[in-house]
Amino acid sequence: MWPYPKVLAHRGAGKLAPENTLAALRCGLALGFHAVEFDVMLSKDSVPVLMHDPEFGRTVAGSGLVAGTDAADLLTMDAGSWLDARFQGEPVPSYEQVIHFCREQQIWMNVEIKPSPGHEEVTGRIVAALSAACFADVVSSDPARLPLLSSFSMTALRAAKTAAPQIPRALLLDSPHPDWKSMLQELSAVALHVNHKHLSQEWAAQVKNAGYGLFCYTVNEPERAHELLRWGVDAFCTDYPDRIPADF
Ligand code: G3P
Ligand code: MG
Repeated sequence: MWPYPKVLAHRGAGKLAPENTLAALRCGLALGFHAVEFDVMLSKDSVPVLMHDPEFGRTVAGSGLVAGTDAADLLTMDAGSWLDARFQGEPVPSYEQVIHFCREQQIWMNVEIKPSPGHEEVTGRIVAALSAACFADVVSSDPARLPLLSSFSMTALRAAKTAAPQIPRALLLDSPHPDWKSMLQELSAVALHVNHKHLSQEWAAQVKNAGYGLFCYTVNEPERAHELLRWGVDAFCTDYPDRIPADF
């Protein structure tokens, strides 16, 4: 059984406010969302921060690499102006800041481990260890409140499993992979997260029959969301929490 919420705000509410920032989380919350997906990668000094792209230029102005920049500099960068001038100065948050915010506001987190290329193992290890440290009090009392760590990187997920086996994991796949079941088994994962565009009804049935949670990204049309739920999909994230409500 899927113990988590059914609809998540993707990258916070990353089309309505700057993705992967506290402003986005607040926006989702204002729309009634107590469940979010966001992306986490490491700074040069190994601090997990919310960021989707490994290089600057889209959500943060300039050039350079996240993995080449210390957290002290990253956390003061403007990650808001690119979307709208009213978000000017909205900073890149650290994962730890976001954990505190989400715990305070009772927001459930799907943390996508998004390693910079070549940093897969260390990113999985550090994100899992920090998650475990910040949620040590609920591991046995209320496991449904633990963050769900997902990644496209098997290396990152293997490292997460080794570092903090008690924090649940999910494998992200863009398209069907013949070995999906053995990959989930190896990771002791609880769920498969797939691009809904590449999910068939047959594959959905196989995943559910195998006893795994099934999550889809990124679903922005209510009609499609209804179809996926009919196929047995447990949950999905959306860019538009103003179109698809939390209690969909
Ligand atoms: O976690 C699902 C989804 O966020 C994966 O794709 O590129 O939006 O991080 P992306
Ligand atoms: Mg993501």
